[in-house]
Amino acid sequence: MLKITFVQLDGARRDVEASAGISVMQAATRNGVAGIDAECGGACACATCHVYVDEAWRERVGPPQGGEADMLEFALEVDPDRSRLSCQITISEALDGLVVHLPAAQQ
Ligand code: FES
Repeated sequence: MLKITFVQLDGARRDVEASAGISVMQAATRNGVAGIDAECGGACACATCHVYVDEAWRERVGPPQGGEADMLEFALEVDPDRSRLSCQITISEALDGLVVHLPAAQQ
């Protein structure tokens, strides 16, 4: 199993285990992580799974593409350098230990 860490605004960290091939959003919702509502179920159509990728992971995760970049325009508190929709980040061995932060609007 791989580890993903979700960090709340107050600094509280929640580590969850996840298998390769699922999305960061699915890792959050399956483990009841607060702040990831994922209203559209991962269809890249709601922006309620918005996260900030930790600085140390930004390069490995990469920037949003195509429809994700368009949908991010509807998210609150977007940071062009680190915002991603977590349903569009697929967990792989390369992302074991990934750290993402929850925006204040989703606390
Ligand atoms: S779950 Fe709706 S955009 Fe990610």
